[in-house]
Formats: sequence, structure tokens, C-alpha cells
Amino acid sequence: MWGGRFAEGPSAIMREINASIPFDKALWRQDIAASKAHVAMLGAQGIVSAEDAAAIAAGLDQVAAEYEAHGVPENWDLEDIHMTTESRLAELIGPAAGRLHTARSRNDQVATDFRLWVRDAIDQADAGLEALQVALVTRAGEHADSIMPGFTHLQTAQPVTLGHHLLAYFEMAARDRSRLADARARLNQCPLGSAALAGTGFPIDRQATAHALGFAEPTRNSLDAVSDRDFALDYLMAAAQIALHLSRLAEEFIIWASQPFGFVTLPDALSTGSSIMPQKKNPDAAELVRGHAGRIVGSLTSLMITMKGLPLAYSKDMQDDKPPVFEAAGLLTLCLAAMEGMVAGATFRTQRMRAAAELGYATATDLADWLVRQAGIPFREAHHITGAAVKLAESRGVALDALPLADLQAIDARIDERVFAALSVDASVASRASYGGTAPEQVRLRVAEARGALGLE
Ligand code: ARG
Repeated sequence: MWGGRFAEGPSAIMREINASIPFDKALWRQDIAASKAHVAMLGAQGIVSAEDAAAIAAGLDQVAAEYEAHGVPENWDLEDIHMTTESRLAELIGPAAGRLHTARSRNDQVATDFRLWVRDAIDQADAGLEALQVALVTRAGEHADSIMPGFTHLQTAQPVTLGHHLLAYFEMAARDRSRLADARARLNQCPLGSAALAGTGFPIDRQATAHALGFAEPTRNSLDAVSDRDFALDYLMAAAQIALHLSRLAEEFIIWASQPFGFVTLPDALSTGSSIMPQKKNPDAAELVRGHAGRIVGSLTSLMITMKGLPLAYSKDMQDDKPPVFEAAGLLTLCLAAMEGMVAGATFRTQRMRAAAELGYATATDLADWLVRQAGIPFREAHHITGAAVKLAESRGVALDALPLADLQAIDARIDERVFAALSVDASVASRASYGGTAPEQVRLRVAEARGALGLE
């Protein structure tokens, strides 16, 4: 394809280090689509004859059919998907194939193909997040009243509802989807026609190719267009953030599924057994979601470092943009599906959750709040009195509301029998009805809003 000025062919090492076909063959659909848009425009502008344009378009369809049926052949001499396709096109239709590359370079070609690929990856991630949101909001609706311990420092803090806990992840997914939408909007400009770096002297119609490929508009600076990979980084940043969220959710399931917690039974379909310990049911899928977050964040780091310090415009370093994006996208799809399945299929052991909430003095804050409200005691003093009550209950190994009134009154005489109504976990969660709080009535409101936003009603 470029042998005109060379006396010798490339060495074996050169061919191997240069070849991107082993991975960029994944771009074949995008490459064919962009070439078809390009040649249709060349024909419409009279840059190639209508006859050649038609022959090229038909030839590209045939190449696509071959790829679909037999896969993309991997010949390192042809370097990449662009040359592989053009070479096969030449075999099929003869010299007219050589007109396809008029007013185009592989630099704007690969930038266009890759944007198209990443745009699909964004849409796929968004669909995965939406499915996860549906699972979360469905389970949250079932468990708006189910009480569990809420934690800070992984120490029992205050009772919350399981529905509230699950909806926290709904919010993370909502932010993730908005990051993807931002990335998609910024990505959606077409580099095609920027040519090698400076634009072209041919009378091309960039609006036409941009619109044919579903882009909002052409890019505005040819140097930027061929050397920009922000769209891939935007996607990877969003993917990394999603992976962090999924790994936190996975970690919760791992902890909850452990025997001392026993808050959840994971679906068999997303667990594995042990080859030596017959009793085991391991949360491998959740552990791998937690682990894959490392690889996805690594992909982002990899591309950031590839792009760092590259002068304008295209440099071959940029060929290394694809493996990290492909890897992250594959892992992300799996992780989203695994966590959706886990949320949808988990059996929540609500009795054990409730018992744990009752055990850890989770209503101590409610006692302090009661002292403030009913006895007019300043919060700091109420905190101290409550600490003494917890200490006493702990020394006896009983819950706060199992302490006899006389013992509570010995700690502070202003306590009366009405306090017991505030010490149950049910009263505790019901009282936290501030906007966005854990009270079942609040959770039900948020579930209804979320279902409406997802179009579930
Ligand atoms: N395979 C190349 C890549 O992915 C295509 C662009 C090659 N451009 C060039 N000037 N050699 O980056």
C-alpha cells in the first residue's frame, strides 16, 4: 500500500510490531460503514464516477458478508483493518478500489471508526446500567420496610431499610448514566474528511458523511480531529467510575453472604463450589467484579499514559488506544450483567438483618434524640447519658430496650417510660423521614419516582 519509495520490505520485527489487525479487526463493521459513507459522498460530489462509487459500495458489502461468514483474515503484511479491507476490495473489484482512499487518510479513518465503536460501547454500558437500575428499584420496592443495620466504619451505626441501602446504588448508577450521556454528546462529531492532518483539497461534503454516520456535525479542526482520543478517555473514565461502584456493591454482597453476617443467599447461578470443602458456596462472580475494577481502571491509566506528551497530530503510539478500550468494554459488560443478576436473584435474609440491627445498639442515637426532644437536654449531654446506658446494657449483654426503667432512671432521672417507644428499630427508621432519609415512607416515594423515571409504570 505504501511501497513506492521503499527499496526493501519491512523486517519480521517491523511487521509484527506494526500489525494492529489482531485487535483492530474488531472495528470491521465501523470501517465498512465509514467507507460506504465516504464513497457515497465521493460519488455525490463527482470526485469519483457514479459507476466506480457503485462498484466500490457493492464490493464493500461483499467484503462485509465475507467477514460476517468467515471472520476477518489476519495478515500482518496488511497491518490493520483498513488495509485488509481495501486489499480484499481490490481483489474483488479491481483498480476502482484504489479510488476509495481519495480525500481520506487512515488517520481520519481510524479516528472515525473508533468513535463509532466507542459510541456503541457507551450505549451498551448505558443499557447495562439501566437493567441494573431496574433490578435495584424492584428489590428496593420489595424491601422498603426491611430493617437492617446501617454501618459507618463497618460498625453498626443506625438502623436503615434494605430498600434505602439498595437505592443508594440506584443513585450511583444514575450519575454513571449521566456521565455516559455527557461522553456521548462530546464524542458525536465526525473526523472523516480531516484526512492525514490538514484537511483535503478535494471538494468533499463533510456534513453529508457526518450525518450518514449518525454524528451531529463534523469536527472543526483537522489536526485535533486526527489526534484526539478524548472520546475514548471519557468513556474509560466513565467505565472506571462504574467499575468502582460495581466493586463496592460486589463487596457488600461478599460481606453479606459470609456466614457471620448471613444477610443474603446468593443465586446458585452466580456462585461456585469448592473442590475440597463440600459446604462451600463462594461468591466468585462478586469477587471477580471487585477484581475486574482493577483491570478497568488499569485500562484508563494505560491510555492516559499513551496519550501524554504526544505532539500534534497523529503518532503511531495512538494505535495502542484500542486494546485498553476493548478490554475495559468487555469486562464492563460482564460486570454489569453479573451485578444485575445478583441483585435480581439474591435472597435477602431479612430476619437475620433485623436481628443484627437489634443487636448492635443501633438505636443509641434515638435515645439521645429522645432526651433532647422530650427532656430538653442539650445533645452533647444526651450523648453522654446514652453512652452510660449502652455501657450498662453491654455489661449485661442485653439490648437497650431490655434495660429496666429503674436502671435507666438511675443513670438519668429525666428518663421515663415513653422512652421505650423510641428504642425499637422500627420506631428508629420510621422517625428518619427527612427528605432522602431511610424511613419506609421516604423509600416508597423514591421507589415510585425511580420507577417513573425508568418508565416502569
Ligand atoms: N492502524 C492504525 C491505527 O490504528 C491506523 C492509522 C495509521 N496511520 C498512519 N499514519 N500510519 O492507529
